[in-house]
Amino acid sequence: MKNTLIAPSVLAADFANLQREIEMINTSEADWFHIDIMDGVFVPNISFGMPVLDAINKHAKKTIDVHLMIVDPDRYIATFKKLGADILTVHYEACTHLHRTLQAIKAEGMKAGVALNPHTNVDLLEDVIQDIDLVCIMSVNPGFGGQSFIENTYSKVEKLKALINRKNASTLIEIDGGVTNKNAKQLVDAGADVLVAGSYVFGAENPIATIADLKAITK
Ligand code: DX5
Ligand code: ZN
Repeated sequence: MKNTLIAPSVLAADFANLQREIEMINTSEADWFHIDIMDGVFVPNISFGMPVLDAINKHAKKTIDVHLMIVDPDRYIATFKKLGADILTVHYEACTHLHRTLQAIKAEGMKAGVALNPHTNVDLLEDVIQDIDLVCIMSVNPGFGGQSFIENTYSKVEKLKALINRKNASTLIEIDGGVTNKNAKQLVDAGADVLVAGSYVFGAENPIATIADLKAITK
């Protein structure tokens, strides 16, 4: 039986009731908090920044998985460590010296993740996969919650899983964007270890039951 990790994306939370939303995740079967940081340059949207993450960190009782959708992420690695990030994911497309960036994240004591836009081929990670703790496959174009899932994702997951096995790496595969109970099982069967879900969880009438359902169908 697989223990698929569920990471609700706080981007879809009610920010006027953030503490209540955080407590909901703490109480639920969710495994991680997924935190989307957008700079309005790498992606055409601005989400939230340091003071909000600081507030989340004060209440969150689970792993904090930070997804940076920003240019030049090296500038903020130490800052995100101080703000409570356990996993720091940068975009492949935003890093000129990806290997160096991954080492800098690990030197701060965090797990290092790399996110791939929908058009970015997983084979580009071949020479660095052993240094990556988590690959986040974007199953929508980054920038907004609530978009529909790109079907090509399944074959990307399979290709990445084969690469990880071939290289004897222990990298986790995370899927981000448009995840629901309709695609969760197929993603896990293809090789996914972590599912991010924003609008599907926070838009549900009963988010705790929705998280439990995602856990159950991906076992
Ligand atoms: C998209 C973000 C996602 C987003 C997922 O740029 O990286 O994490 O919050 O939201 P849903 O699950 O609504 O697609
Ligand atoms: Zn994300």
